[in-house]
Amino acid sequence: MAGVGQKGSSGAGGAGAGPAGLDYIACHMAKDKTQYTCNECGGSSPKWLGKCPHCNAWNTLIESVAESPSASAKNRFASLAKTAEVTTLADIDATDVQRTPTGHDELDRVLGGGIVEGGVVLIGGDPGIGKSTLLLQALDALQRSGQKTLYVTGEESGAQVALRSRRLGLDGSQVSVLAEIQLEKILATLAHTQPAIAVIDSIQTVYSEQLTSAPGSVAQVRECAAHLTRAAKASGTAIVLVGHVTKEGALAGPRVLEHMVDTVLYFEGDTHSSFRLIRAIKNRFGAVNEIGVFAMTERGLKGVSNPSAIFLSQHSEPVPGSCVMVTLEGTRPMLVEIQALVDSGGPSPRRLSVGLDRDRLAMLLAVLHRHAGVACMDQDVFVNAVGGVRISEPAADLAVMLAITSSLRGKALPKGFIAFGEVGLAGEVRPAPRGQERLKEAAKLGFSVAVVPKANAPKKNDKAFEGLTIHAVERIEEAMSLVRQLAD
Ligand code: TYD
Ligand code: MG
Repeated sequence: MAGVGQKGSSGAGGAGAGPAGLDYIACHMAKDKTQYTCNECGGSSPKWLGKCPHCNAWNTLIESVAESPSASAKNRFASLAKTAEVTTLADIDATDVQRTPTGHDELDRVLGGGIVEGGVVLIGGDPGIGKSTLLLQALDALQRSGQKTLYVTGEESGAQVALRSRRLGLDGSQVSVLAEIQLEKILATLAHTQPAIAVIDSIQTVYSEQLTSAPGSVAQVRECAAHLTRAAKASGTAIVLVGHVTKEGALAGPRVLEHMVDTVLYFEGDTHSSFRLIRAIKNRFGAVNEIGVFAMTERGLKGVSNPSAIFLSQHSEPVPGSCVMVTLEGTRPMLVEIQALVDSGGPSPRRLSVGLDRDRLAMLLAVLHRHAGVACMDQDVFVNAVGGVRISEPAADLAVMLAITSSLRGKALPKGFIAFGEVGLAGEVRPAPRGQERLKEAAKLGFSVAVVPKANAPKKNDKAFEGLTIHAVERIEEAMSLVRQLAD
């Protein structure tokens, strides 16, 4: 059970796994009628219409199951806590949640320590990035540690999954596999076998008989995820849902999926490089923005426990347009190379960025022009964070601007150079969170020159910064002239 229950009534909080799960399925199996519900106003209609009869919005009706009011309320709030009597917080007996480590430290790190009983995790990522591989490895490790596991595959046959497990060197794996895409059968199997953890690969292939829309449609994905979430809460089985991402990089299916589940993880990375990152976007049981780093090998994914230097490309001599920054991912600092290429463009020059925010790039170019006199108006500007990482923090600003200027002038930054700091619209350089840790990591990896915001510069001499000359700046123009002096 989730560890939060009423004092003195332990066991009433949902530990009665079996019967609750079975009841739930039995009630769901009764054939219900479908109806169409408006996404905007929640109004319903017995048949599909292009325009909602209640709020006149277009194309907002989505098929859903028409249930008795009590049942539908129950499902709608599937992800919410059970209702109980009103009590004060102090009277609620809240022990920390029980976590089961998955046997993969990097995965445990993003999960906040391990899989939580009854917790629902949604894991998204591009095809072929390694979702199925990682989950199969995790299930096998859990099974070997004595947990009951179930792998429900809707995308591949049992034979394909078996083949992968052999390839991963998981011979003699006792993980149970169910090749099934029908929700009612999956729920029945879950209730019957009561695994400690089940993986649904993927939620887009699962369909419910109750709805006529095709598997993968918004209505199906939402309905199936809601029922699985409910089943997880009722039975205590931890469920991992694999989700596809769309071309834009968002999880396919409704946003509501992210609200329904406890934890949302994204798998990212360049499929051409062997490194993969898992990022926690939402976590009810742990910190977000924590990342796990893996390397794809012949034998599946292996955790990289010290990833701070993997995103540096190895130049023997400094090259123009390249600047290394220290980014902080969750609790760990990582060095990432930012590359820029500035080249003469046509009448409407392009601004492209990979791994960095494009709107922010446009803003930085404007600041560069206005406050540092560096004009790229007639130039194409491309920036890239090396190694397929995505940097969302503004601490990358200074490195991006220095890389752009370096490329424009065709002059490399000094050897062993790093920079970080946010740059504001007024041209001021603002501090990055936990600057000292970033500087320590850079010093550890042998960097020798750092340009950082004034507030991030260490006040006293510390051995940890040995070998690193730290220059503090307050404004972008100051940083630019400093770098020019250093390069000469
Ligand atoms: P997969 O887990 O099937 O991706 P997803 O479920 O996210 O679509 O990943 C498959 C990719 O990983 C495939 O391109 C081959 C590669 N791979 C390895 O490099 N080594 C391995 O041991 C395995 C099993 C896969
Ligand atoms: Mg897969």
